[in-house]
Amino acid sequence: MTQAPPPLIFAVPKGRILKEALPVMERAGIEPEPAFHDRAERSLSFTTTDGAMRIIRVRAFDVATFVAFGAAQAGIVGSDVIEEFDYSELYAPVDLGIGHCRLSVAEPAGGCGESPGNASHVRVATKYPAITRRFFARHGIQAECVKLNGAMELAPALGLSGRVVDLVDTGRTLAGNGLVETQVIMQVSARLIVNRAALKTDPRVAALVERFRALGDKLAA
Ligand code: ATP
Ligand code: PRP
Repeated sequence: MTQAPPPLIFAVPKGRILKEALPVMERAGIEPEPAFHDRAERSLSFTTTDGAMRIIRVRAFDVATFVAFGAAQAGIVGSDVIEEFDYSELYAPVDLGIGHCRLSVAEPAGGCGESPGNASHVRVATKYPAITRRFFARHGIQAECVKLNGAMELAPALGLSGRVVDLVDTGRTLAGNGLVETQVIMQVSARLIVNRAALKTDPRVAALVERFRALGDKLAA
């Protein structure tokens, strides 16, 4: 008797992308069990209506890590996270047309006292040190990054850094903390990601990509 293969693991971020991702996943035939929506539930792994797949709920940056290492075969994550890690094992075949925002440089409205025009070195508070270093390096500037996991916008006023690199959507968080956006580094949206090795060896992963691709044009429109 042949054994059923282990379930595919689909990783989703636990925060703000999830609300937009669930209807897209549903259209692709992935619906988590009711416990997934129960805030009191402590389990992080859930069955789905597709009996051959489980959903895990992890932090956005960890979605990319689980998939890159093959611990999950597929997932949904922002292009900001994909770009930050630059994992060679990640393939991002479908733009899901959700989670739109941008990653930008910002500084105090009155200036930050460090002028990239003259300076060859700046200090930047960010959750995205790799993207930040690459961006400033392209302009011939060495960025010293102070890694924070949130509330970056506090850093300039408290003397931690001259600038921040953070996600911007409405711009309200920047404005509320006396900062102005000076450069857009990249536009961001959420992507389907898969592990490259799993895509080559497991036909269920290729079929999953096709299911999301079939939605593709409608989603990105
Ligand atoms: P964290 O690790 O910060 O707790 P999380 O697991 O809660 O993150 P989500 O909040 O679901 O993850 O996803 C964060 C992603 O949402 C970002 O990486 C980005 O791609 C996307 N996003 C879209 N709009 C915004 C916004 N205004 N602010 C932050 N992220 C946004
Ligand atoms: C995000 C981001 C900015 C803000 C941008 O924070 O880090 O602070 O949203 O959105 P806006 O331009 O519409 O104000 P989030 O609310 O996800 O909190 P966190 O990053 O501190 O976890």
